Amino acid sequence: MGLDLQTLNDVANWMAASGKGILAADESTPTIGKRFDQIGAESTEKSRNAYRDLLFSSNGIEQYISGVILFDETLRQFSLDGGTPYPDYLSNLGIIPGIKVDKGAKPLAGFPGETITEGLDGLRDRLEEYRNLGARFAKWRAVIKIGEDMPSFSSIATNAHALARYAALCQEADLVPIVEPEILMDGEHTVEDSFEVTELVLESVFSELYSQGVVLEEMILKPNMVLSGYECEDQADVDTVAGMTLDCLKRTVPAAVPGIAFLSGGQSDELATAHLSAMNKMAGDGKPWNLTFSYGRALQQPALKAWEGKDENISAAQEAFMKRAKLNGLASVGKYSEDME
Ligand code: 13P
Repeated sequence: MGLDLQTLNDVANWMAASGKGILAADESTPTIGKRFDQIGAESTEKSRNAYRDLLFSSNGIEQYISGVILFDETLRQFSLDGGTPYPDYLSNLGIIPGIKVDKGAKPLAGFPGETITEGLDGLRDRLEEYRNLGARFAKWRAVIKIGEDMPSFSSIATNAHALARYAALCQEADLVPIVEPEILMDGEHTVEDSFEVTELVLESVFSELYSQGVVLEEMILKPNMVLSGYECEDQADVDTVAGMTLDCLKRTVPAAVPGIAFLSGGQSDELATAHLSAMNKMAGDGKPWNLTFSYGRALQQPALKAWEGKDENISAAQEAFMKRAKLNGLASVGKYSEDME
């Protein structure tokens, strides 16, 4: 099956389709290197190709995955079964190919410990090339930290401004922007702190998107969930996280946005699934946007562990990957339960 999606709104709706979600497989070369180190595998162009191929060729992946975010290198690589460029390979399965376009979070001058995401210079030309190579959407991740005197007004304002500039350029280039303002969950902050900062950041992001003429119907929001800091003694339970995240999103995300696809941000894979399912169950049909996943680690961790960089483990790794994809697909319609693990 090929994909026949005419407008950016069609693409955004497909990305947020019910029962499915997005696989974030766009780790930069240094980041995937760290993941490979953890399983004792060497990171080379060939091994990265083999690993991404293992994920994309998992039997039935298209039942649960609506889109895949690729890194530049993978977008230009070919499937191992017959040399099809990955954007075509995925489209043939009915999965939308996308591309990470930011150049990473760099130190923000004057604000030690905070970052601004770079990559706007020359972005128009890069987007044109990516669209020609078959990408239909893009991703840009901004990173906000909670800590002593953090986040500063500056880090929120500069990152929101950059996200909106990126999103406007994407729509001009016929690409759906995934707008990702990630508030890190590292630290001792409480779930209430997380709520307050998430609300402030999302308000600021949507204000910039509005100022810069970004069409809300043609984008996907990729936020963090409202969670207790990982080092906070008092960890909010699943229902609290689900309820507070929903409340925060209802206050800040306009109904015109077709879909919200969460990042997992270092949560365990089981918790990331449980939180998503609880939100969908709680909100029922009374929410204006589809709520789904755009997980990296929470989808890939068990597969990486099973693979260990060895050919003989490919089937086991695919099985582990498909299990998480399926359970998250169920979570995206509120139908996951712990006993399915
Ligand atoms: P995690 O789900 O591992 O947080 O990754 C999602 C992502 O794409 C971060 O930009």
